[in-house]
Amino acid sequence: MDIFDQVEQNIDRLAENDVNWAHPATPEQLEKARCGKIELKVGSDGIIPPEWFGDLRGKKVLCLAGAGGLQAPVLACAGAEVTVLDLSEKMLDRDRDIAEREGLDIRIEHGNMCDLSRFTDESFDLVLNPPSLFYVPDVMPVFREVYRVLKKGGSFIMISMAPIAYVCDYDAAEGCYKAVNRMPYCSADHADQGDWIEYGHTMESYIGGQLRCGFVLTGYLESQMEDITELYFITKGEKK
Ligand SMILES: C[S@@+](CC[C@H](N)C(=O)[O-])C[C@H]1O[C@@H](n2cnc3c(N)ncnc32)[C@H](O)[C@@H]1O
Repeated sequence: MDIFDQVEQNIDRLAENDVNWAHPATPEQLEKARCGKIELKVGSDGIIPPEWFGDLRGKKVLCLAGAGGLQAPVLACAGAEVTVLDLSEKMLDRDRDIAEREGLDIRIEHGNMCDLSRFTDESFDLVLNPPSLFYVPDVMPVFREVYRVLKKGGSFIMISMAPIAYVCDYDAAEGCYKAVNRMPYCSADHADQGDWIEYGHTMESYIGGQLRCGFVLTGYLESQMEDITELYFITKGEKK
């Protein structure tokens, strides 16, 4: 099976089982967004700095691999013209439901973030990419496409998991984590991972990759989860 078909199947199954990252925005979050206050969490404690979004009224925003009914409705309530593109129809159903309930005009696109050819050059002011790049084998096609579809002066906010999540495995016998996997990591190289497909990319790919595409990085933050190996990071890149 094609790896993206496999990822889609895996994500559809998790969405059907109501995994926590498929939980849509709360009425409070939507209400705050309507007043211009964007509260989008990263992991359990972190938050995307609201000032990174600026005033979204009338802005064209692409929520890339960002279905689930959380980010797209919040951004739409803040006044943006939002398109959400995602590989999983089950995740997109969450956005369809909330858009219908709240009367939000969100453009829903089923597709792969590695191929944004349906969008013309320089068509978005902001691309927001929630944690998902660990489902693609190579981040470069995504970064190149994002750079192409962004307007000059536009921003790219992406969130992903730091390499420590993939380098370390828990050693139950010794009761501690050990650094055992070399980066880049691919779940298919590990027999115990079954059909699950996930890629651990190096920081060189995330940071160097964006710089090579022409982005100027103007923001970097980390958010530590309770588990010491679960470390999210967020970057803000700008197309000058
Ligand atoms: C962990 S969820 C993140 C979204 C969620 N709204 C959040 O941040 O809480 C990852 C999302 O990326 C999507 N995804 C994975 N690979 C993709 C690809 N190649 N193209 C488009 N979407 C993809 C999945 O379907 C899923 O909706």
